[in-house]
Amino acid sequence: MEFPDTRPRRLRQNASIRALVQENWLTPNDLLAPVFVMQGKGLKEEISSMPNYFRFSIDLAVKEVKELYSMGIKGVMLFVKVADELKDNAGTEAINPRGLMQTAITEIKDACPEMLVFSDVAMDPYSSLGHDGIVQDGKILNDDTCEILGEMAITHAQAGADFIAPSDMMDGRIGFIREVLDEEGYEDTGILAYSAKYASCFYGPFRDALDSAPVDVKNVPTDKKTYQMNPGNSKVALQEMELDISEGADIIMVKPALSYLDIISIAKQNFNTPIAAYQVSGEYSMIHAAAQKGWLDYDSTVLETTLSIKRAGADMIATYFTRDLIRLID
Ligand code: PBG
Repeated sequence: MEFPDTRPRRLRQNASIRALVQENWLTPNDLLAPVFVMQGKGLKEEISSMPNYFRFSIDLAVKEVKELYSMGIKGVMLFVKVADELKDNAGTEAINPRGLMQTAITEIKDACPEMLVFSDVAMDPYSSLGHDGIVQDGKILNDDTCEILGEMAITHAQAGADFIAPSDMMDGRIGFIREVLDEEGYEDTGILAYSAKYASCFYGPFRDALDSAPVDVKNVPTDKKTYQMNPGNSKVALQEMELDISEGADIIMVKPALSYLDIISIAKQNFNTPIAAYQVSGEYSMIHAAAQKGWLDYDSTVLETTLSIKRAGADMIATYFTRDLIRLID
């Protein structure tokens, strides 16, 4: 049918019609909230490059998680800021069963058992060199790093994590972690795989939050391009997602989100595994900065960008805007 027999604007005439024909809606069930944890007690620190986003000591993180649950959020992603004196090239502190992450998981699950806890499994917060793997002769070792990730995953599962979330882009880590979890009797602990994670400039504020950026010293790469993916490529994203699914991933993730909507869409078309998208720190800070200058309207930008991630095909969205979104979609 052609104009004037068909008039698409008929379905855009008023808010009621627009609502009836809207295909995608955000609900609290779509959202995962990242929570940054640090040592101490009674501490809540604003992250300098992430306005209105905070690092919490465990006691206040517990309070935050309870509040998020009461608002309808079903899952939190935990990240830890590790003290400098506990960092080394082998990420030794990562496998401490009484470490910050392990303790945070236990206390959060004790206080709010219904909240799903996704624990970050990657070496970078523990690495004195700021890399997601052991660095040797300028290279980031793959297989040796997988061994540490496996041990780390077991300590998180022991502490009560519902999902292990390996975020480092080492090869073979999903299969390795699945195998060790099963061996230890944690066959019900899930894996959310950061399958398609790009070497992106949008992680800057997150690295401020955890003080986890690669250090600038001789013979240490200053970027993560040998493990995270090249923004110019999409086929390799399919390959990475395929590999992770075959190795046992329960959920696959695309990260960042807004610059990679095509990748989310490809994932949706090709796989039956649920898809998560991570609207990362830089996406958050960029919108805050523009809104502070009065150049963009904060609320509508938050809603539109997040909704577009859902429309692209994400089943769940990890976002620093959870509190704003709950307010906006109410
Ligand atoms: C590292 C990790 C990063 C993020 C999550 N896990 C940063 C990086 O790869 O350097 C970024 C999240 C964000 O920017 O919000 N394992």
